Amino acid sequence: MVTESFLTLPQLELPSKGGSITVTAPSNIALVKYWGKSQGQIPRNASISFTLSNCFTKTTLGFTPFSEQSKAGQEMVNDLDDSNFEVFVDGLSKPDFAPKIATFFNRIEAYLPWIRSFQWRIDTENTFPHGSGIASSASGFAALAGALMELENSWSLDPLPPELWAQKTSFLARLGSGSASRSVLGPLMYWGTHPALPASSDLFACILDQEVHAVFIDYKDTILLVDQGEKEVSSTLGHNLMHDHPFANQRFDQAQDNLGKLLAVLACGDTHEFCRIVETEALSLHAMMMTSNPSYLLMKPNTLAIIEKVRIFRRANNVPVCFTLDAGANVHLLYPAKFTPQVMPWIQNELSGHCQAGQFIEDQVGQGVKKV
Ligand code: PMV
Repeated sequence: MVTESFLTLPQLELPSKGGSITVTAPSNIALVKYWGKSQGQIPRNASISFTLSNCFTKTTLGFTPFSEQSKAGQEMVNDLDDSNFEVFVDGLSKPDFAPKIATFFNRIEAYLPWIRSFQWRIDTENTFPHGSGIASSASGFAALAGALMELENSWSLDPLPPELWAQKTSFLARLGSGSASRSVLGPLMYWGTHPALPASSDLFACILDQEVHAVFIDYKDTILLVDQGEKEVSSTLGHNLMHDHPFANQRFDQAQDNLGKLLAVLACGDTHEFCRIVETEALSLHAMMMTSNPSYLLMKPNTLAIIEKVRIFRRANNVPVCFTLDAGANVHLLYPAKFTPQVMPWIQNELSGHCQAGQFIEDQVGQGVKKV
């Protein structure tokens, strides 16, 4: 599959009146991390994630044909910009989000040329608290891509079947934020070419359709909110620092290798090996940040305190609970649902004290983009 195949545009019957569509898209947590990319949002290694359930973005996309607008007949400008859309978060206008959305619209225009024919209103809200340190870009761009693709399919004379719909949605979401490509379906999605995954692509994520052991089907992710401030270094900058990183190639090889091993673990249900791989991946991601030039640290003392306690608890109780981290200080605790009665009191009594205002979010694996 090449980019050009998404340029085959469907025949559409565009509406003459305005309307809206609402979709939800969840966040995801990577088990093997994507960190480092080439031009055009192409990952330097393959990654795989659990799609989440409770942490999601709900986006209502309103459209008004330009013919209904005072702008009718005006010459279109070259770049799409904030005269083509408005962004609202929790009902409040957010002009500061406009540059990111404008970049996204300009990147996807070749694949959805009809976006020029409308004035857009993007109303979005997240179930997780603002500034909780949980990245809203994965769920946000998956929701926006999902809403646009719902519209395209509803206007198409030859709608895409579900598999191709998901592929194009993931392809578009990737152009907003790489990890967003993995929020389209669930419970497990991989993205980036990998020799063990013949369907894998750098251009879109795929649902893992190999045999997955039952233990992983209802995995829990309890997110410990260690630091709810703005990230000190953005993901964009972090990815860029991988260009001249002395350990970049070893890191990309390690990720490819870990993904191969994880596929076997997901099939056989070896939760202890799962913990080993997932924790190595989390610490390698942060090791890349700590050894970048300039170096930086996103973990906080409470992140490390939790990591230590996780390892002690796992050894003492033989419970396969492990930690992972995204590009921030928060800790995701992953464990099979059947261990919740043992894990939850420990989180409440021992770990919540390391969280800001004692806060954590209970989540679990989920299914991806949904039309409301
Ligand atoms: O999607 P981005 O560009 O925000 O990158 C996010 C990368 C990590 O969350 C740190 C890892 C991953 O694979 O999701």
